[in-house]
Amino acid sequence: MPVPALPPTLPAIVAPAATQPTTHLSQITPGAIWPDDRGKHIQAHGGGIIKLGDTYYWFGEDRSQDNEKDKRYVACYTSTDLMNWTFRRQVIAQGTPLEPGKWWALERPKVFYNAKTRKYVMYVHIEGGDKKGYARGEVATYISDTVDGDYQFIRSFRPLNLESRDIGQFIDDDGSAYLIFESRPTKGFYIAQLSEDYLDVAKITCFIESRLEGGALVHYDGLYYVLGSHMTGWDPNPNMYATALKLEGPWSEFKDIAPPKAKTFGSQSTMLLKVVGNKTTSVLYIGDMWKPKTQWDSRYLWMPLEIGQGKMRLPEPRPWSIDMTTGVVSFK
Ligand code: DGJ
Repeated sequence: MPVPALPPTLPAIVAPAATQPTTHLSQITPGAIWPDDRGKHIQAHGGGIIKLGDTYYWFGEDRSQDNEKDKRYVACYTSTDLMNWTFRRQVIAQGTPLEPGKWWALERPKVFYNAKTRKYVMYVHIEGGDKKGYARGEVATYISDTVDGDYQFIRSFRPLNLESRDIGQFIDDDGSAYLIFESRPTKGFYIAQLSEDYLDVAKITCFIESRLEGGALVHYDGLYYVLGSHMTGWDPNPNMYATALKLEGPWSEFKDIAPPKAKTFGSQSTMLLKVVGNKTTSVLYIGDMWKPKTQWDSRYLWMPLEIGQGKMRLPEPRPWSIDMTTGVVSFK
């Protein structure tokens, strides 16, 4: 009997039609391109982060290369693990609300959720209108009914009639909301509590006489830590921190968070994010690595801080991840 021919090679198993490739990250790599769920570099520069339920919302300046020249954009992203961010939408995409003039700047957007009014209130640093360059020194407020809705411009103003440049946000453990703002004429920066509806800056909690911008705050293990950068425009410099038992102060002297010659590893402070897990609490340094000529390519430097007993140290950047349940950070 003839030996039956061997069966032909089995056809390769054809995979079902591939869906849109998704990016899945298992670490944060400081200074690298940070792809969102679409594979595009995240556009949330000079940003602010709030947590609602288990979800983090990251708002920031969207400097995409294909943005319209006269418009300014704020993008919103969400994540539950701080590594993988889903682009929600541009919650601001508009021409200047300040008349006259086309040029304007919208920087460092910060969103606060007001549980009483159930509104989302955004503060930004705004420049332009009849004032050339950075002469206006104001904040602008925007409002939305939903976290990632179209934020509507309300007004621009100087908080408590004080010049305001870089802004930062801080929510204390009791839920009270603060705006941090830098003011050149008084040579320092303010920590100021928002009004009940968050639509205004109600009162100065503390003035810190220190010429620092990019102000950020965290309350950790019974101490407040404030962080800021010197004023060198977009160029990095050695960022410094101080501590206080109460927000009102008195504040300690300012100290370096990293070896001064490292210039904060090429970054500028934007925010301090506290992640409370069931094993530990980690505090993350959220910084921007600006590229003024190619802003869309500006990078982020996020690193877990070594913090406690009045000391705060930014270690040399390297890839890391965080377990959102335990709060424990691991380095790769
Ligand atoms: C430094 C600030 O921190 C940035 O937000 C931006 O305003 C640049 N200066 C502009 O030079």
